[in-house]
Amino acid sequence: MVRPLIAGNWKMNGTHRSLDLVRDVVSGLASLEDKADCLVCPPATLLGQVSQIAGESRLVTGGQDCHAEESGAHTGDIAAEMIADMGATYVIIGHSERRSDHGESDAIVAAKAEAAFRADLVPIICVGETLEEREADKTIDVISSQLKNSIPDSAANQTFVVAYEPVWAIGTGKVATPGQVAEVHDEIRKQLSQRFGSHGDERPLLYGGSMKPGNAAELLALENVNGGLIGGASLKAEDFLAIYAACVSNL
Ligand code: PGA
Repeated sequence: MVRPLIAGNWKMNGTHRSLDLVRDVVSGLASLEDKADCLVCPPATLLGQVSQIAGESRLVTGGQDCHAEESGAHTGDIAAEMIADMGATYVIIGHSERRSDHGESDAIVAAKAEAAFRADLVPIICVGETLEEREADKTIDVISSQLKNSIPDSAANQTFVVAYEPVWAIGTGKVATPGQVAEVHDEIRKQLSQRFGSHGDERPLLYGGSMKPGNAAELLALENVNGGLIGGASLKAEDFLAIYAACVSNL
């Protein structure tokens, strides 16, 4: 069985005042069953402090993006090694907001995945179709091409996570139906399995896009959904913990 992962993506939200949210997550997690991993990805400005608060607890931390190179003249960018140096163990890459706001191609995402491996971080590689692509019946084609080109071959020997996030469901309150999620997740599992064998069968597949306490149980019960990448609802400890609780109660 794949050990699930509940991951919070704070996006560009949070100042030092948000550290109380981390303290609440750490203490809430202590009373929930240890059957899934729990991750928060705060903005880089808070990563060191969040990692310190997470300390020896079950909460782990991650970055929201990294540069492909280890160092150099890239003003404003952050290397995977710097994220690891802040105590983080994961990094989200290829989020649709990076792909659209920063023009990140699959090739860039694949290079970032290599950077994560180099720095001993687990990349959470995001894929997802736009509404236009779904309506044109291109969802599976888009996902297949993103998987093929955003996941480097070196992933065969590395730990990584894939997140399916339909762009139209992110931050919109429009959640994909369990049928829609199952179709894409089953396809992702099939393709990872074909490409990477049993290693592909063991990768956690996360769903992301308006996951909330009210819809989490149903989505997390799907066979090939092994957790969630949660934006808005990760900004409230109570909601984030409720999603974690829904995840472990399914097991
Ligand atoms: P959302 O964001 O939960 O606010 O829809 C998810 C994500 O973009 O990772």
